Amino acid sequence: MKKTLFINIKELVQVRTEQIKFVSGKEMKNLPIIKNAYLLIEKDKIIDFGNMADCPVNTDAKHIDVKDKIIMPTYCDSHTHLVFAGNREGEFVDKINGLSYEEIAKRGGGILNSAKKLAETSEEDLYLQSKERLEEIISQGTGAVEIKSGYGLSYESELKMLRVIKRLKENYDIEIKANFLGAHAIPLEYKNDKQGYLKMLTEKLMPIISKEKLADFVDIFCEKAYFSVDDTEFILKAGKKHGLIPKIHVNQFNAIGGVKVGVKYNALSVDHLEVMGDDDFEVLKNSGTMPVALPACSFFLGIPYTPARQILNAELPLALASDYNPGSTPTGNMNFIVATSCIKMKLTPEEAINAATINGAYAMGLEKKLGSITKGKLASFIITKKINSYASIPYNFGTNKVNKVYLKGKLQ
Ligand code: NIG
Ligand code: FE
Repeated sequence: MKKTLFINIKELVQVRTEQIKFVSGKEMKNLPIIKNAYLLIEKDKIIDFGNMADCPVNTDAKHIDVKDKIIMPTYCDSHTHLVFAGNREGEFVDKINGLSYEEIAKRGGGILNSAKKLAETSEEDLYLQSKERLEEIISQGTGAVEIKSGYGLSYESELKMLRVIKRLKENYDIEIKANFLGAHAIPLEYKNDKQGYLKMLTEKLMPIISKEKLADFVDIFCEKAYFSVDDTEFILKAGKKHGLIPKIHVNQFNAIGGVKVGVKYNALSVDHLEVMGDDDFEVLKNSGTMPVALPACSFFLGIPYTPARQILNAELPLALASDYNPGSTPTGNMNFIVATSCIKMKLTPEEAINAATINGAYAMGLEKKLGSITKGKLASFIITKKINSYASIPYNFGTNKVNKVYLKGKLQ
């Protein structure tokens, strides 16, 4: 049987009859829903939906009654580093005992610590560790994920990471986009030769990544003690030449001018933004570049939250992503991200769900396929447990409200 009809849906959330790119500013308060709804899917696509009063009868579709439950599109997590080796639980304790993220990094911990572990891990083992995380986020309701390299920091290890991402893409129904983040930190071998490292990334790695189609995006950690605005310009320019679309880590600890460069190179998104300069708001207006907040990173590191209200007041859009990684965000649970954005950044549940679905889809170039319940889009959605309304997801933070997950029409 090719068709499945879900009936008696308490709330069908994020229904969009027209294709939209993303929602901004005040529009984000509007989360369209249909109460007492039906949803019809065929193979991997959504083909119809509406009120139960108009539900098709006498169809040959398999019927599934979801009384008291809610259906919403799966989350689009546009920023993760979920391919990594081991963990950084030791640094977690150092942090509890008073060291900051920057201090840990200065002692040789941080990204370089993960790079060392990754270099010592076989490609097969890296795949097995990563696939567990991927399966976990699928069970939590994520239907699309962007995964970065950046714990390789060498020719061999960056390729190893990108090949693991490719294998995940081939083996799972979740949509995956790969991001080349070779410029995540300066590796020890290039400690006094940052230019040499950037040259290796652009002249040796980018050509092969582009030839073997190992990445969709290019990224850089634009931050004091990591990579400058000039380095950012250099990497984005070279990335574009190799067909990689820019997405950058910027304004996490310091605003050094990276947002402007990102917009100049038509970055699809600028991510972190815990620290915003006045001109950053102006620069982003009408740019097509999506600001992305990563509230679980702020939660875990105890750093400021991205000023979401100010961003929306400036009529800008905002997406939410997990930043799943071993150092600053050891979770990829988008339910928690939505909850944290409501509790700590004062987004309403409507704004948060828009940010984690349609705007997240845009931030990874998937808005035509995912991010809303729209005819013709992929049948990737969450069926919740019996809940009061979609607001229960952030309200009952820390409680799992996801019952079932369908990706491309298939129950996971
Ligand atoms: O997005 N800030 C840079 N990169 C990651 C953290 C990397 C790490 O600590 O391993 C982030 O937070
Ligand atoms: Fe990140």
